[in-house]
Amino acid sequence: MTSQTLREARKYEEASESMIRREDRPVFHLSTRVGWMNDPNGFSVYNGTYHLFYQYHPYSSHTGPMHWGHAVSRDLLRWEYLPAALAPDSFYDRDGCFSGSGVTLADGRHLLMYTGVLRERGADGAVREVQTQCLAVGDGTDYEKYEGNPVLDEKDLPEGGSRIDFRDPKMWRREDGSYSCVVGNRSADGSGQILLYTSPDGFRWKFRSVLISNRNRFGTMWECPDFFELDGKWVLLVSPQDMLPEGFEYHNGNGTLCLIGSYDQETDTFKEEQDQSIDYGIDFYAAQTVEAPDGRRIMVGWMQNWDACGIRTPEEPWFGQMSLPRELSVRDGRLYQKPVRELEAMRKNRVAYENVPVSGEIRLDGIQGRRVDLELTVRLQEEERPYQKFALRFAQDARYRTSLSFRPHESVLKIDRKFSGSRRAIVHQRRCLVRGGGRELKLRVILDSFSAEIFVNDGEQVLSVTMYTDLSADGISFFADGQAVMDITKYDLAAE
Ligand code: FRU
Repeated sequence: MTSQTLREARKYEEASESMIRREDRPVFHLSTRVGWMNDPNGFSVYNGTYHLFYQYHPYSSHTGPMHWGHAVSRDLLRWEYLPAALAPDSFYDRDGCFSGSGVTLADGRHLLMYTGVLRERGADGAVREVQTQCLAVGDGTDYEKYEGNPVLDEKDLPEGGSRIDFRDPKMWRREDGSYSCVVGNRSADGSGQILLYTSPDGFRWKFRSVLISNRNRFGTMWECPDFFELDGKWVLLVSPQDMLPEGFEYHNGNGTLCLIGSYDQETDTFKEEQDQSIDYGIDFYAAQTVEAPDGRRIMVGWMQNWDACGIRTPEEPWFGQMSLPRELSVRDGRLYQKPVRELEAMRKNRVAYENVPVSGEIRLDGIQGRRVDLELTVRLQEEERPYQKFALRFAQDARYRTSLSFRPHESVLKIDRKFSGSRRAIVHQRRCLVRGGGRELKLRVILDSFSAEIFVNDGEQVLSVTMYTDLSADGISFFADGQAVMDITKYDLAAE
């Protein structure tokens, strides 16, 4: 039975989506149908189709009581909206249906697990949000909340675990047909821990172990965990809140963290061996993965940062887009990411140049646009006047530009959206240390309307950034303060 709250949301989104012109949206990144979008949720393959749900407040371009928006795709790039899947309409989720995940049940139904949020006034008069884990079962379009909700609440927490910060369940099916899920939680020391629960059937859940504790090393609360095996290692992705900076690796505020290590399936504990940021840009958070039918592990994140949401002016009819889905692999203890190979089918109008000398600012015929795929290799030539700084500038006109600059002698790559038209005092720049030295730098840059995703040295590092510069600023130029030499290939990216 569809509730009144969900019916209203479905009616509203259908009536209002025409307010947003198609050309004002990204082309192959999923953006909110109307209003506000944050985290990816329920990323799964159901009946041969990719389903991607998202944190959704249809009624304004600001966060509000969370619904789940819903879209489907066959190629991860061309998304079709379905009616909103969940609304905050029950006594246990009245104040929001927060993030969660999806799996296919043995009987073929689609199971969603999400966090139900309920505001409660304590004896001290303060309002707190109590969080529990809840289920909904459906057919790929309509979902019925489970009568046994919530299935996990404070009774299922280990000692000292917070019932206020207990959210974002990510389920998977184990080889023996049972289910597991990881949930973010805050322990007695105030920092994050990841709890692991198991279930024989997807409905009856039991606490099993603390998979890993943060112990105040990386931020405080760990949001949106994901846990999977990849290339012989186990990978835990989390989004820590309140990070402190560490060198070029981690930055203040909301961040992303990838831990690579081993998983003891007897005790259900994880031992980390390496840590790194997932994304080194400004706008990437709450990553979630799916295993594709062909075995690829594909990740998508919210291409925004809670601390920098002010980049978009409040009058805009939509706010929030997903990152490009990325194929993951682990090599030498590092996470590698590549744009999904499906993107190659969208490439049109190839333009290529080899051994182009760059000195000062240059433009190249046929290289411009805001929906493009650029492959670029920049080389340092010691015998000439070697450059100290190389820059790729895009979303450029006489007034605006976003730049990616590289200093080979420090091996530092910087993204800078200061001149993108933003009128807010938020973070506009971020630097990262490129591993393996600076003699040759290989970049793949994907632009789609209001974003740039930069894959460095075959995906060893990625930087994602949004810039809401008017689409008429579609110039691309290259700059070197000495002598640089580059190869470049450009494709336009078009959905049709
Ligand atoms: C992360 C997050 C989640 C929560 C959701 C609420 O961005 O804070 O922890 O479930 O957003 O919209």
